[in-house]
Order: sequence, then structure tokens, then C-alpha cells
Amino acid sequence: MNIIQDPLLLQNELLKLKRRGKKIGFVPTMGNLHEGHLSLVELARQHSDIVVSSIFVNPMQFGPNEDYDNYPRTLEADKSKLKQYNVDFLFTPTNEIIYPFGKEQHTSVQLNRLTNKLCGAKRPGHFKGVTTVVNIFFNIVQPDIAVFGKKDYQQFLIIQSMVSDLMMPIKIIGAEIKREKNGLALSSRNQYLTEAQKDSASLLQQTIKEIAENIKQGDRAYSELIERAKHTLLSYNFKVDYLEIVKQSDLEAASPSDNSILIAVAAWYGSPRLIDNLEINL
Ligand code: PAF
Repeated sequence: MNIIQDPLLLQNELLKLKRRGKKIGFVPTMGNLHEGHLSLVELARQHSDIVVSSIFVNPMQFGPNEDYDNYPRTLEADKSKLKQYNVDFLFTPTNEIIYPFGKEQHTSVQLNRLTNKLCGAKRPGHFKGVTTVVNIFFNIVQPDIAVFGKKDYQQFLIIQSMVSDLMMPIKIIGAEIKREKNGLALSSRNQYLTEAQKDSASLLQQTIKEIAENIKQGDRAYSELIERAKHTLLSYNFKVDYLEIVKQSDLEAASPSDNSILIAVAAWYGSPRLIDNLEINL
């Protein structure tokens, strides 16, 4: 595995390979890799000849009171995992390389739809940080395909829309959510929980699964389903940030006649804010 910090060096190496007809697959990450990330790498491998990954804890996508400083940084362990998965190139830039004038002064890229809902409504500026850094990475790597996990469903949709709006010749592939045995969606932020807390936190997935079951059985009283679920989560010590039933296509509130629905939730369980979702196709 080639580990490269210099964007131009990486770009040159990849352009040489592209000229030789190699298909480039890209998996951007913020490190602290778990099986979820590694499944993205596997998916990228299935769709490309050369797999490139990046590890960069992007300061632009964290709000002032969020966990940027404490975000788990485990570069050495991450490198050995990526090596085992035969990643060809790992890009590990610094803040100074990505934002030489500071994140405030840097050119930004912002999608003007989809970004003010769900996580975007609760984390102002978050998706501007994501689309900006992903744009920078796409310009460096120039991948044919890029893989994003659907645990961050909104991020996946936003990146897909950005690529389409800006006519970037990149295919965005969504990877299914990887879960612990108890159902808890894998996340770097699960590290903040003890094993016992992880077990209890799996109630988040059980709750949205229950909503999905009710919908599949014909219950379309969405507001009541949501209120009941919020009540359950509250009684098990979750602090719900949002719990919504939306359309998969544009994240607007779903109506009873919609068939492609997403149940999306964000809730704090102790210190970490956990997110999860479930797609239902009726
Ligand atoms: O999903 C993530 O880990 C990040 O948002 C991403 C896509 C690597 C951009 O920093």
C-alpha cells in the first residue's frame, strides 16, 4: 500500500494508472476504521482495479461544540487494516495541506437542497464541510467510482446530488449498513460506549425496525408512530435529536401514499450522538 500525503503526487500516480486504462475506486474516511469501512473498501474493489482510501478528520464538518478534538484517531491500526484489505493507495493529508488558508478562508461547495433537513438542520454547516472536502478529494483522486455508507443516508444522497449537479463523471455507490450482532449500526462513535451501553443502544435500531413493521402492516399514522417511538427512546435514556419518516428521494416528510420511505433517527446515548436509518420499499 502506497501511503501518500502530497495531493499532487497522488494525483500524478493515479493519472498514470488511469491513462493505462485502470478504473479507480475511492473510499474517503475519517479513520478509526471498523468493519463498516472495510465493507466499503470491499465494494470499491468489486467495482475497480485500483482502490484509493483517505483518512482525514475534516475540521470543516464539525460544529464548534462537537467532538472534533476528541474524535478517535488511530492511524497506525487503520493503516494495517487497509493493508490487509489490499488498498493500493492511502491518502493522509494534514489540515494545512487541505486548508492552507484555514477552513474559514477556503473555497467551499454547498448543495442548496437536502442539506437543511435531518442532520443538516441539527448540525448547521456540517454538509458544507462534507461536500467541500469530498470535492477536494474527488479533484485529487479523480475516481471512476466512490463508495459511501448508507448509515449516513443523507450524506450519500447529498454526494450523489452534488456529483449530478456539478456533472462530475463519478459513479456514487451506496453500501448497506453494517451492524453489531445486537443490531447497533457500526460507528466510530460507538467507541465512546461500554459493551453494556452498546447493548442498550441497540434499542435505537429495534425502535425504527418496529416502526417499519407497523408501516409494512398498513399503519400510516406516521405522527403517532413517531411519538410512541420517541416516548420509548426517552424512557430508555436516549435524548432524541430527530426521528422522522421521510421520502428516500428528497427527505421531505413522507405521506401515506409514498412507497419509498426512510425512517431516520439521531439520538444521544450518553455522550455519543448515534444515527441510524431504515429504508422501506412498500
Ligand atoms: O463519512 C465520513 O466519514 C465523512 O463525512 C467523509 C465522507 C469522509 C468526509 O469527511
